[in-house]
Amino acid sequence: MSVCTAPGTVASGKGNRKSLQCRYHGWFYVLDGKLLNAPEFEGVRNWSPQEYCLRPVQVTEWGPFVFVNLDDGAPRLREMLGAIPAEVARAGFDIADMQPVERRDYLVDCNWKVYVDNYLEGYHIPIAHPGLFREIDYDQYRVDTFRYYSSQYAPIRPAPPSGPIPGRDRRYLRGDGEQQALYYWVFPNLMLNFYPDNMQINIIVPLDTERTLTIFEWCFKQPGSGEGWESMQQSIAFSDEVQREDMEICNTVQRNLHSRAYNQGRFSVKRENGVHHFQRLVAEYLTDK
Ligand SMILES: [Fe+2]
Repeated sequence: MSVCTAPGTVASGKGNRKSLQCRYHGWFYVLDGKLLNAPEFEGVRNWSPQEYCLRPVQVTEWGPFVFVNLDDGAPRLREMLGAIPAEVARAGFDIADMQPVERRDYLVDCNWKVYVDNYLEGYHIPIAHPGLFREIDYDQYRVDTFRYYSSQYAPIRPAPPSGPIPGRDRRYLRGDGEQQALYYWVFPNLMLNFYPDNMQINIIVPLDTERTLTIFEWCFKQPGSGEGWESMQQSIAFSDEVQREDMEICNTVQRNLHSRAYNQGRFSVKRENGVHHFQRLVAEYLTDK
């Protein structure tokens, strides 16, 4: 049986290597994980290098993404993503060519589940996001849930005769007609937003019970060029505005969860089915696995 033998780091940062060397005792591994050389191991009894290699893990690529799962028993990525890759391909979004162009990290003073709860419902938009509320058709806003993910339908209101309001998020301005954007949340902590020439990724990283790192990344097909470039800058600015409004809400919710007056809440069937779906998955993974 193979065992993991590298308590040190075998690679870090970006780039590519032809072999992996542990930064602790200098053991060399080839890229499939086999041990190539363990320095100064002459004379060790019952020693068989073939039995010592790096532990294999699930790795799957999709477009520019590489998904790694350390749990051998976890569902395969294809099962987790369900119809998403087919829908993205059918909609004509060419994600394989996109390159990262912008990353923003936001530290939120809340539990990661509070942030995801907030992301998965539009219920708070009329109060917490007045700018966003003006742009979308709130009556039609809905969340559709699937086994391991949900999708959001957020159509925009028709632009006024004078044209769209400058600075508004292209995420919503372009969400109509044949240029319908696609918005997904994948359990437990990944959000993917697809547009014809760019996409936005949100990764939600729990730091501890009261703090969460949210990583926003934008990928673009032709950085610095094309009609979409300027509107993508507007999109980033508007996403930043919405994110700051969400952070304020999430910080407040986290603080008030500690109130002795708070016990539990109820869900709106119409507006919070996505949150209910998420919390059912969390409960399932905390109790059944
Ligand atoms: Fe929000």
